[in-house]
Amino acid sequence: MSKVMIIGAGGVGGVVAHKCAQLPDVFTEIVLASRTESKCKAIAKQLPRPITTAQVDADNVPELVALLRKEKPVLVINVALPYQDLTIMDACLEVGVNYLDTANYEPLDTAKFEYHWQWAYHERFKEAGLTALLGSGFDPGATNVFTAYLAKHYFDEIHELDIIDVNGGDHGYAFATNFNPEINIREVTAECRHWENGGFVTTDAMSKKARFTCPEEVGTYSIYRMYHEELESLSKHYPTLKRAQFWMSFSENYLKHLEVLGNVGMTGIEPIDFNGQEIVPIQLLARLLPDPSTLGPRTKGKTCIGVVVKGIKDGKEKIHYLYNIADHQDCYKEVGSQAISYTTGVPAMIGAMNMVQGDWIRPGVWNIEQFDPDPFMAAMNVHGLPWKVVELDQFSLTDAS
Ligand SMILES: NC(=O)c1ccc[n+]([C@@H]2O[C@H](COP(=O)([O-])OP(=O)(O)OC[C@H]3O[C@@H](n4cnc5c(N)ncnc54)[C@H](OP(=O)(O)O)[C@@H]3O)[C@@H](O)[C@H]2O)c1
Repeated sequence: MSKVMIIGAGGVGGVVAHKCAQLPDVFTEIVLASRTESKCKAIAKQLPRPITTAQVDADNVPELVALLRKEKPVLVINVALPYQDLTIMDACLEVGVNYLDTANYEPLDTAKFEYHWQWAYHERFKEAGLTALLGSGFDPGATNVFTAYLAKHYFDEIHELDIIDVNGGDHGYAFATNFNPEINIREVTAECRHWENGGFVTTDAMSKKARFTCPEEVGTYSIYRMYHEELESLSKHYPTLKRAQFWMSFSENYLKHLEVLGNVGMTGIEPIDFNGQEIVPIQLLARLLPDPSTLGPRTKGKTCIGVVVKGIKDGKEKIHYLYNIADHQDCYKEVGSQAISYTTGVPAMIGAMNMVQGDWIRPGVWNIEQFDPDPFMAAMNVHGLPWKVVELDQFSLTDAS
């Protein structure tokens, strides 16, 4: 018996519910809980078997505790927002439930992406005999496991890592984000940090640009270096890394809109007074933008997300590129969602499967690359995100800033 509770009924929550529902032998019972229960019920209606839905405010520990005591899941899959990570971890500790998420905790009033808040729970989870798996989405998530898999099977020591996230999809809107707009914009507008020679180097947001040609005719895209949370855990867990960078593709159109919105103050996270009411500009903007969970039918094109690792094998320098390509319309046909939610929700389901089946149960708080990558990589091929490894003769991202 493995009853799981999914918290968050947005774009990613919908995919996790679909993918868990496809595996009744693994996930025998599913509870989908979120702030707005009608969204849980709408997802439940699309599924091939019945699930339980519930209303919960995941900022409220006593409410979470009451729901967990009532439903008694073995695992919570947290796909609400990063602001809720700590309250959900607190409730899991209080009731004795394992925990998984896809994004690290962020305080609402500071766009700071750091693991220390969640790593601080390690001893408490260990003493309680509970496992917390951090970052089981695509990036972070699959990208960490890709790195661990290459390090395990293709290298004796890894030295350079470039994580490259290309979304070649088009939703036809002038401006929309593929996952929660508030979280997306906070991430993209944050200053860039990359790992170099034992420390993080800070540069201006979006100040370094390169061109990257994806394999299998996905196309050539402008990619921008930015900070992403997996750089923190991967540089810690792979201390031989001399450099680690994260790159993401953006269209000129997306960046122009973001620049204008930033210039007029719409991406601000500080509350302002408006006619006697306190509003946070980025939250108002998020309300105005299309809901990412509605982009599925209109998004066409492919994503190509992978890692390029340079290192040493048997005394020789080697370069390997491990990637997945996902087609937005294929994802939509399978689970009614675009590929960004799909590529996040499938690894969340796989991480959960590895936990409930016992492969990835180890009391404490762990980043995903700290577990054996092999069962995850095998499951990616089976559950909709097949991957390939290619050896490269050379690799360099030329500056196109
Ligand atoms: N690692 C990766 O690759 C990756 C990629 C994309 C996204 N993510 C992460 O995945 C998570 C979900 O993203 P998404 O695009 O699905 O976002 P979304 O569409 O905005 O969905 C978030 C859901 O969480 C619910 N929620 C928010 N606050 C809540 C609260 N206090 N209590 C209960 N439920 C609450 C929302 O409820 P309402 O419907 O009432 O607003 C909504 O249903 C985010 O943490 C995001 O950072 C990770």
